[in-house]
Amino acid sequence: MDREEFDRIFDEELGGMSAQIAQDPIELCRVVGRLNTLRPVRTLEIGINLGGTTRFWQLLTSELVVAVDMDTSKITVDFSGHAPPLLIQGDSTAHATVAKVREHAPYDFLWIDGGHTYEIAKSDWDNYAPMVRPGGVVGLHDVKAEAEGPYKLLKELQLKGFFHEAFIGHKGTALISIPF
Ligand SMILES: C[S@@+](CC[C@H](N)C(=O)[O-])C[C@H]1O[C@@H](n2cnc3c(N)ncnc32)[C@H](O)[C@@H]1O
Repeated sequence: MDREEFDRIFDEELGGMSAQIAQDPIELCRVVGRLNTLRPVRTLEIGINLGGTTRFWQLLTSELVVAVDMDTSKITVDFSGHAPPLLIQGDSTAHATVAKVREHAPYDFLWIDGGHTYEIAKSDWDNYAPMVRPGGVVGLHDVKAEAEGPYKLLKELQLKGFFHEAFIGHKGTALISIPF
């Protein structure tokens, strides 16, 4: 996906930041650049909201996007034109949800943007990062705000030796590499 296509989807199709997508476009553009190289076959998203990021993963993933939210009735994005994402409604921390997601593993790319307490973000990492293949990537969103869970989780992962790239604009996005 080139920059022109990114802008068309972000601004025209999704209505721009804070419309159908809760992302800083500069940060998301960097993620898209990484996915252009990674070329995910299967992607997992935790935290859909209206579906803006799910639409990007759908367009960048060749086989299947699995996306989880506790309330999928909020989705307003039109997913037509490509293989539809598999939407799973449920609490990401619940055993039943984890079991449903595991049925479609392994994943090449995981995007964690669900509950933003430390407990939920940590649970999402513990449950779903092991479903990402070696050499895959985990995106952790909202790592900028020091008071929020993703910030603390990222600091812990750094101490454990995980390599990551961080794009710190309005929100803060980290891409964590899963070692081979
Ligand atoms: C920040 S929004 C996701 C934004 C979306 N990725 C985007 O960029 O447009 C967070 C979403 O996570 C969902 N969520 C929060 N806690 C959750 C949980 N424990 N399990 C599943 N979904 C959860 C909320 O319902 C909300 O839709």
